[in-house]
Amino acid sequence: MSPPRRPAVDVAVVGGGVIGCSVAYHAARHGARVALFEAEGIGAGASGATAGMLSGQSEVQEPGPFLDLLLKSRDLHVPLSEALLEETGLDVEYLRAGALHVAFDAEGAEDLAARYSRQKEQGLSARWLDAGEARELEPALAPDLVAGLYFPEDAQVNPPRLVRALALAAQSRGAGVEEATRVTGFLTEGDRVTGVRTSRGTVSAQTVVLAGGVGSSPLAQDLGIRLPVHPVKGEILALRAGPTPIKANVWGDGCYLVPKRDGRVIAGATEEPGVYDRRPTLGGVASLSGAALRTVPALSRSQFESVWGGLRPTTPDKRPVLGRAEGWERLLIATGTHRNGVLLAPVVGQSVAALALGEEPPADVSSFSPDRFAALARDVL
Ligand code: GLY
Repeated sequence: MSPPRRPAVDVAVVGGGVIGCSVAYHAARHGARVALFEAEGIGAGASGATAGMLSGQSEVQEPGPFLDLLLKSRDLHVPLSEALLEETGLDVEYLRAGALHVAFDAEGAEDLAARYSRQKEQGLSARWLDAGEARELEPALAPDLVAGLYFPEDAQVNPPRLVRALALAAQSRGAGVEEATRVTGFLTEGDRVTGVRTSRGTVSAQTVVLAGGVGSSPLAQDLGIRLPVHPVKGEILALRAGPTPIKANVWGDGCYLVPKRDGRVIAGATEEPGVYDRRPTLGGVASLSGAALRTVPALSRSQFESVWGGLRPTTPDKRPVLGRAEGWERLLIATGTHRNGVLLAPVVGQSVAALALGEEPPADVSSFSPDRFAALARDVL
């Protein structure tokens, strides 16, 4: 007996991470009938395993469409967090306290100086700090630091809250959010994707958005689409310091440290390409705790609260994959956000929802087309 065929929706979203939930929310805001399917729970994957930095200027240095997209999305977090508070009562804890990069030797300082020049050339706001100025900004930093570079506009949110708020706001606008529901394949008619097969039946849809993080590639492969999205495992620690000894996101010697409103400091993150096992390791804990103490020695008095791991969905060029895949109508891809899923959620949600509904996207995402990988050899898949 074939599983039941469910009523049609305008947009079916595969994946309940921050990207899928943002697409669902923005499509529902436009009045679309939306159904989102998540194999585990909302935010159970990479989105829930991140510190929530909005690192517009910290992650990418070269000017171009990617930096533009990151900066646009960083700005969009402000109205998004306000809208989500109004619509759901959930505060996603948006905080703009900047990002401070610190160097502990001459080579590190040279690197920061080069980054400072590049940022200024692009007209971005950045401040060069000598050791004294850096410690004035963050007195808990290790005293032997030699220089700092401060990006006052970088910010942070609470990722699990953000994902939950997006899902709740989508639901309150009529979207169906189905957890513990695995998408197992697509319905097709000729060159059109017409819906999804799930572990609980089939659903027909005008447009399907594949936002399944590292799970996206095997699904795309079923349609013959080459989508080289691989995991880059990251481990992350939570320390309870209360009150937190730092105010900004601090990028130190081998780690970043993100102070949270509830008194935690999140220390991240390792990077292990090609590893699918999310479980944290002793090696990860050792390298992150060593780096955290090197950067802010006062953290030795903090309590070790927890450690966890997540799989960043990463492409060969470390850029996201956004838009229609060659050869298929009514299928959009939205993944490959690597280290920037939380940051990119507003702009990707708005833009992919607009594409799904046949509207002009508010950001030009044409540089991130899935087709750029079409010529790659099979062995990178
Ligand atoms: N967003 C920072 C990281 O992925 O480690």
